[in-house]
Amino acid sequence: VCDSGDFATIDKYKPQDATTNPSLILAASKKADYAKLIDAAVEYGKSHGDSMDEKVDATLDSLLVQFGKEILKIVPGKVSTELYKEQGIEKDRVLIKIASTWEGIKAAHILQSEHGINCNLTLMFSLPQAIAAAEAGAFLISPFVGRILDWYKAATKKDYAPHEDPGVKSVQNIFNYYKKYGYKTIVMGASFRNVGEILELAGCDYLTIAPNLLEALYNSKDEVPKKLDAQDATNLDIEKKSYLN
Ligand code: E4P
Repeated sequence: VCDSGDFATIDKYKPQDATTNPSLILAASKKADYAKLIDAAVEYGKSHGDSMDEKVDATLDSLLVQFGKEILKIVPGKVSTELYKEQGIEKDRVLIKIASTWEGIKAAHILQSEHGINCNLTLMFSLPQAIAAAEAGAFLISPFVGRILDWYKAATKKDYAPHEDPGVKSVQNIFNYYKKYGYKTIVMGASFRNVGEILELAGCDYLTIAPNLLEALYNSKDEVPKKLDAQDATNLDIEKKSYLN
């Protein structure tokens, strides 16, 4: 899975699926090649909403929708994106990104069970969030490896080798828990800071990877041994917990 807002770059790596977010789209939109999309978004914003805030909101909304549609043209599979407003969601191929707060997980439960809208519970940093998301029937979760590492590094002023990286360990625990207890929610590791983290999580259901790290992986000729295994997880001694109710 490629994690970017720049659809021309996504096209270069021919991924099955893609993930994006407003920051990535905003960064991509600075490319001269995308000037027409910016102009269209600004025009849309001008004619939608009365106050300046509403117009800015509509402009950003249009930008997300336009870039999202371009990414959908490029990848054959699913695209995860934040949406401001419901603008013609292509239910089969769009995963709505929702922050893994208590309210977000409850909202995902309603969207999944009552509306058949698949959700990607994102900004996930812990096993309890992941357990609640699985109990809510979320289609997919995005545990954030790099953000966890960033916090640990800032707090401890230490560096972490990939095998002791707290973000990596968080995803390993979530993957093993899901497989041990047969949850179908897909685990997609996200927010990577280096190739070592990605290699430690080989075998995870999905990993969404930024273009610079995809490039580094592409250039390294090393064999990638599978580190996570669903069958092995079933033999682990892991306590069952419940958080949703
Ligand atoms: C995934 O869906 C996110 O877009 C992404 O991986 C976030 O990464 P960051 O922590 O670098 O912002």
